Amino acid sequence: MNILIIGSGGREHAITWSLNKSREVDKIFVSPGNAGTAELAQNVNVDLSNDESIISFINDNLVGLVVIGPEDPLVNGLADVLIAQNIPVFGPQKNGAILEGSKAFAKRFMKKYNIPTAGYEEFSDYYKASIYLESAQYPLVLKADGLAAGKGVIIVNNQKEAQAALDRIMKDKDFGSAGDKIVVEEFLEGEEASILAFVDANTVVPMVPAQDHKAIFDGDKGPNTGGMGTYSPAPIVDDSVMKLFKEEVLDRFMVGLKAEKIVFRGIIFVGLMIKNGKPKVLEFNVRFGDPETQVVLPRLKTDLYTIMNAVVNDKLSEIKIEWNEEYAVCVVVASEGYPDAYPKGIELKNLNQDDAIVFHAGTKLENGKVVNSGGRVLGVTALDKDLKTAIAKAYSAVEKIEFEKKYYRKDIAQKAYKYIY
Ligand code: AMP
Ligand code: GLY
Repeated sequence: MNILIIGSGGREHAITWSLNKSREVDKIFVSPGNAGTAELAQNVNVDLSNDESIISFINDNLVGLVVIGPEDPLVNGLADVLIAQNIPVFGPQKNGAILEGSKAFAKRFMKKYNIPTAGYEEFSDYYKASIYLESAQYPLVLKADGLAAGKGVIIVNNQKEAQAALDRIMKDKDFGSAGDKIVVEEFLEGEEASILAFVDANTVVPMVPAQDHKAIFDGDKGPNTGGMGTYSPAPIVDDSVMKLFKEEVLDRFMVGLKAEKIVFRGIIFVGLMIKNGKPKVLEFNVRFGDPETQVVLPRLKTDLYTIMNAVVNDKLSEIKIEWNEEYAVCVVVASEGYPDAYPKGIELKNLNQDDAIVFHAGTKLENGKVVNSGGRVLGVTALDKDLKTAIAKAYSAVEKIEFEKKYYRKDIAQKAYKYIY
């Protein structure tokens, strides 16, 4: 089986690494990929804006499965184009991807199917939103409706901050047309966790839980990023939280999909806020998380291709998915300056580490050298039965990697100590 993976991040390197272990997989193409995927697969440049050229690439190269990594092509309907040609796709079509593509849609879906989430209002009219904010209770969370690379969410503590955030989203259009509509949400307290699940037309199977670290600085300080590190399992998700999550979120999610006639084949990623053992949904994503994937897939014992093949054939209920019992910790190495501006083209060395898997994200090959090409550059994952040992292995590898503009958080996974030690 030949596979085409769309994307270029750490998530896509982790998917490539995992699929590459399968005996059933012959050749993997990654478009556009990075310097890490180039070691395991063939990087190609398929023009996603040209349906004909994608389809002919797939046919010419006998690709039997397409895995779509990022949200943009899913929301833009790439799966619809391919499925119309009978090409098997791991990833939902437009009518499922809108759960990530429109926060207002996701909130309406949750309300309709009684999935626990923060209370909210939605506005398409700037003036109506502004009047609402005059008499609202604070803190609140303002969210641009559409895709904004994780940046369209602003927490506000009073009316003045709220008005400024509203202006940024709806008037100045800082997030472009994503800000044509706004969701104003109740602020939830608690601890966050991410649970990804495999979904086919009839079945949903959760993966092991993970926890992300979104802020740039230690102690969750500073602006949010795409994610600075993860670990799995996340002990905040104990058996009782998992049970509630399955009953109140996943089961109702499947009821909602059926009722709305959405056939969903791929991943649903649920961002949760957990307080007093009760999970509430912060957001749905319709793809693997980044850097959640870099800790979840290394714990997967079952062949990933077998699972993906089952998903695209609606046979997920027939397979058993198994995980190893180890802790996985991923430390993201970023370019100094990220999430603001940072220099590119700086060489990275010593990227093969014995005790850790070095997933590439923003890297590329330039004259035979690996250089940084993005803000999040690497995800360094280590595993061990003991959490502190897994952390130590990950950081020891990070320290050995040579990169002049290396920045990383020093406190990844420490949040779990209180549950374990
Ligand atoms: P989202 O993209 O909707 O998950 O939001 C990004 C981040 O904003 C989340 O990971 C949370 O840290 C924070 N956030 C979003 N919604 C809320 C909420 N209702 N209450 C508190 N924090 C939130
Ligand atoms: N790590 C958060 C995300 O993938 O959206």
